[in-house]
Amino acid sequence: MGGFILTIDGPAGSGKSTTAERLSAKLGLTYLDTGAMYRAVALAVLERNIDPENEEAVSAVASSLNLEMRTVNGKPSLFIDGRNVDAEIRTPGVSRFVSPVSRYEGVRKEMVRLQRRIGERGGIVAEGRDTGTVVFPQANVRVFLVADMEARVSRRREQLRSMGIEQDASEIRENIRSRDEMDSSRIESPLLKPAGALVVDTSHLTIEAQVDLIEAEVIREVGRMESLAVSKGERNPFAAMSGYYGISRWLVRAFFRVVFGLRVFGSEHLRCRENYIFASNHCSYSDPLVVGCALDREVWFLAKKELFRNRAFASLIRIYHAIPVDREEMERSTMKRILALLGAGRSILMFPEGTRSRTEELRDLKPGLGFTALKSGVAIVPVYVSGTSRLLHCLSRRRRLSVRIGPPIRVGVDCAAGDRRDAYRVLTGMVRSAIGMLKDETEN
Ligand code: DC
Repeated sequence: MGGFILTIDGPAGSGKSTTAERLSAKLGLTYLDTGAMYRAVALAVLERNIDPENEEAVSAVASSLNLEMRTVNGKPSLFIDGRNVDAEIRTPGVSRFVSPVSRYEGVRKEMVRLQRRIGERGGIVAEGRDTGTVVFPQANVRVFLVADMEARVSRRREQLRSMGIEQDASEIRENIRSRDEMDSSRIESPLLKPAGALVVDTSHLTIEAQVDLIEAEVIREVGRMESLAVSKGERNPFAAMSGYYGISRWLVRAFFRVVFGLRVFGSEHLRCRENYIFASNHCSYSDPLVVGCALDREVWFLAKKELFRNRAFASLIRIYHAIPVDREEMERSTMKRILALLGAGRSILMFPEGTRSRTEELRDLKPGLGFTALKSGVAIVPVYVSGTSRLLHCLSRRRRLSVRIGPPIRVGVDCAAGDRRDAYRVLTGMVRSAIGMLKDETEN
């Protein structure tokens, strides 16, 4: 279970904490309670008499907070400046403050950074509102818990009672309702069902039953990962290349390595018996070459139609699997071709920002990426390429030319017709978070 990541998201009172705590003990994983971290920020804001509407001051608190997770008597505990705050962060006063405080971008950036650092090596159960969508989009298993209001109110009441706090059911209901609204409607990382998540309605389930259900899913996934893994020296049919492609790739890679100092990170994530949709950021015309030569796979890639105007150039890029695509709207026939290639076990390279971003700022990604993945069931591998917009600087080694490959985001085929459009968008957002994570790793 070394690098395993399990995320459990859901609204307040859906049973996340108890489920995550029990599962972490059963599976030998570290429990990461992200809600507790936002509560710690709210507590500090309260204690320092800061106006929760003052975004700048609240964000400054979040970045200056000395937060630490420690295990006390086998249970995870949260410390601010060495002081145990487990009890204080659960008081009704903090519960009232926490949603307004956690909607700020500065606060979320800081907390997500800390959470990712804690989960760097995997081996964790993370619980919260955005752990499967933003913090760890590459999680092996993503769970989304839901429950009806009355079940949630009575659970929260019991939880408070066990801490010696008595609160009226109507007050708790009102707090949950207003937090639901704020957590789901905020602009930054709202509460959403992650793509490919196992949805569990806990209203009428015992805690044992919901833990067993999720544990069974984890065991299934571990088995699936084992069956996909290719050991060193073993031949991976999905990594096979035709002769001319393999030779060209080797030459191009050697050229970029020697002349521009290209370095490739994360190739180990591709040692699996499966094909992929590679999704990369895009800052220069050389990206398809640089990213293409960094992948240990033969890939088909999408190139804008305009590049096919020159016949000689069109023939050349076709040999290297360029597929013409209309940037404004993907035609049905193109989508059909992509799905057929994916169905035949081929891998695709996409630049879902749609156009080059010269500032290297990551733009929003086109939801077509999510559509393709959910329709085909093929995993998305996030890629971050850096340095191509400044090749001259790479030549003089003032900058690094690098390609960083992330772990695959596996979602399977999503059959829920009702919210399919939302699912494409959510998945596309998850990929953007994953590319952002690779960008941070590259820059830090
Ligand atoms: O899970 P909880 O009730 O302890 O969470 C407290 C609040 O923290 C919740 O109302 C919203 C916020 N939160 C968040 O914004 N993102 C998370 N990943 C976890 C919690």
